[in-house]
Amino acid sequence: MSKDRKKVRVALIGIGNCASSFIQGLQYYKDAPDDAEIPGLMHATVGGYHVRDIEISAAIDVVEGKVGKDVSEAIWAAPNNTIKFADVPYLNVPVSRGMTHDGLGKYVSTVVKKAPGPTDNIVKILKDTGTNVVINFMPVGSEMATKWYVEQALDAGCAFVNGIPVFIASSPYWSKRFEERGLPIVGDDIKSQVGATIMHRVLTSLFVDRGVRLDRTYQLNFGGNTDFMDTGATGGNGNYGGPCPPVGDKAHRYIFTLYALAVDKIEVAGGVPKTGTAGLYGFVLNKGVGPGLLGKASFTATYGR
Ligand SMILES: NC(=O)c1ccc[n+]([C@@H]2O[C@H](COP(=O)([O-])OP(=O)(O)OC[C@H]3O[C@@H](n4cnc5c(N)ncnc54)[C@H](O)[C@@H]3O)[C@@H](O)[C@H]2O)c1
Repeated sequence: MSKDRKKVRVALIGIGNCASSFIQGLQYYKDAPDDAEIPGLMHATVGGYHVRDIEISAAIDVVEGKVGKDVSEAIWAAPNNTIKFADVPYLNVPVSRGMTHDGLGKYVSTVVKKAPGPTDNIVKILKDTGTNVVINFMPVGSEMATKWYVEQALDAGCAFVNGIPVFIASSPYWSKRFEERGLPIVGDDIKSQVGATIMHRVLTSLFVDRGVRLDRTYQLNFGGNTDFMDTGATGGNGNYGGPCPPVGDKAHRYIFTLYALAVDKIEVAGGVPKTGTAGLYGFVLNKGVGPGLLGKASFTATYGR
């Protein structure tokens, strides 16, 4: 295989915190040995490709402060808050203007401004830059936007790694579209090394291993970065869509609670950060305001479909 063919040209959609970690990681691990344990990295080589064989071919975002900048600069733009662990040289990859759709949720929209100008020709960019693989790193809930970019990747003949929890690789419709084009599709959702999802999964296995019967389980993410601002929404991005149990399930229970508080602002009294999720508010309301909680009353409703 020629040296050039060994490069994997990768386009990133969403220059947020995952993109920052990824791009910094390419620098940080470029000389990682193949035969030693490396903290932070599970494998330095996969299928004969080393970390240093990955090149950033294109970058796409929709917000001011990122679009138009070189991606090596855009990864440091607010509201990104990934710690700096590597110096990233100028990469000569300007961030293109993508298609917004439902990418900017209700709460994220309060901390970023959409970049002006029309959507760039993404198919052309992917083709002109010789992109092999497109990685989706848009915020949770970007369902329409993801489907739009998937079409662009298919048109441009690129493989797709869906790093977000929207059903693409696991959907028979989309996986067939990739199969027909002879293109790989991987997903859905990535997992950080010791993040919330893997912790949840390990704990559920522990329960099963120890003989505890688990009827149901769910995960609440507390704090986090901008992505968490709109996490927990069940409707469109950031908008509560009402109860939505799986069709045919026995009726689910929904508990509504009214709190009487002696504090003006729950955020101030409970120290809830800007990125506080519904789960964190729930925790603070119950445990975090001490005598500021005067009383509460609940009722339970059931609903099935
Ligand atoms: N960090 C993790 O460990 C982890 C684990 C599993 C899944 N994920 C998923 O990865 C995704 C990215 O996470 P993050 O922490 O980088 O989020 P982030 O909020 O830091 O970054 C998202 C980026 O996408 C951009 N964006 C929004 N709409 C867009 C559009 N239409 N086109 C192009 N760009 C758009 C935003 O401007 C932002 O730069 C999320 O969906 C997250 O749930 C992350």
